[in-house]
Amino acid sequence: MDKLSVEHLLGIKYLNANDIDLIFKTADHFKEVINRPIKKVPSLRDITIANLFFENSTRTKLSFELAEKRLSADVINFSAGQSSVKKGETLIDTVNNILSMKVDIVVMRHGSVGAGVFLSKHVDAKIINAGDGTHEHPTQALLDSYSIREKLGSVKGKKIVIVGDILHSRVALSNIFALQLQGAKVKVCGPTTLIPKYISSLGVEVETNLKKALEWCDVANVLRVQNERMDINFFPSTREYTQLFGINKDILDNLGKKIVIMHPGPINRGVEITSDVADSDDSIILNQVENGVAVRMAVIYLLAQQIKR
Ligand code: NCD
Repeated sequence: MDKLSVEHLLGIKYLNANDIDLIFKTADHFKEVINRPIKKVPSLRDITIANLFFENSTRTKLSFELAEKRLSADVINFSAGQSSVKKGETLIDTVNNILSMKVDIVVMRHGSVGAGVFLSKHVDAKIINAGDGTHEHPTQALLDSYSIREKLGSVKGKKIVIVGDILHSRVALSNIFALQLQGAKVKVCGPTTLIPKYISSLGVEVETNLKKALEWCDVANVLRVQNERMDINFFPSTREYTQLFGINKDILDNLGKKIVIMHPGPINRGVEITSDVADSDDSIILNQVENGVAVRMAVIYLLAQQIKR
C-alpha cells in the first residue's frame, strides 16, 4: 500500500509531491463516502484522537472533528480557554496527561510557531498541525489545492495569486509550498508592509498592483487581514486597504476573463472581499469547506495506517 513519507503532518515543507498525490487520491474516495446517505466508514474504530485548540477556530475545528467521526474514531476536544493551561500547566504536561488516556493522534492549533514540531519530539503520538502561529496550516493548503484541482482539473501550470496579509498568514506560507510542489506559479499581492522580506527567496513574485495581479492569474486566494497578530499599524486605514486591495465585482467584471475566487475564512465582508464576489458563481469558498472534511479524513487515515495495532 502507498504510504506517506512523513510520520506527522507538521507542515507542507516536509511533504513531497507523491505525498500530496496520495492524500488527494485518498480524499477523492472519502469525498464519495461523505456524499453517501450513510456518510461514515468504520476504518478508525480503534483510534482515539484529541483535538487541542490553544487558539480560536470555527471551520478547522469542526472540520477535523467531523472528519474524525466519519472515520469512526473516538474523539476528545480541548479548548485552551476552558483548561488548566490558564493555571500554569506546560504544553508537554497538558499533552502527556491527555495521552495517558490512550490517545493515538493529536490535532493541535497553537499560537507559537513550531509548536507541532516541538510536540512531535517530546510526546508519543501522531501530530497534525492545525495552524502554528504565523507559520504553517498544512491541511488548509491541501484543501485549497484539492479545490483548485477539482475546479480546474489540475494545479500544475496554473497561476495563483495570494492577496492580502501575507506576513501574518500561515495559510499563505503553506499554500506557497503546496502550490510550488505541484508545479503552479505563485504571486503574492498586498501592501508592501504585509509582505515578508524573504518572499523572493521562496521563488514567489510580488505584485503590488491588484488589477495587474488579477489580470495575470487563474485563481485569486484572498486572505483576511490578521489584526489580532499586529502590534503596530501596517497600513493607514481599513478604508484605504479596501480601496487598494479589496476585491469587488467591478474589478472582476473589467478583467475580460473569469478567475476563480477562494478564501480560507473567516471572511471580513466588505474589507478584503465584497459579498457579491464571495457569494458569486466564481467563488469556491464553500467548496473549500466541503473538501476540507474529505482532505482531513485522508490525512488522518493515512497517518493512522502507520500506527501499530
Ligand atoms: C485561517 C487560520 O486560522 O489560519 N482560517 C482557517 O483556518 N480557515 C485564516 C484566518 O484566520 O484568517
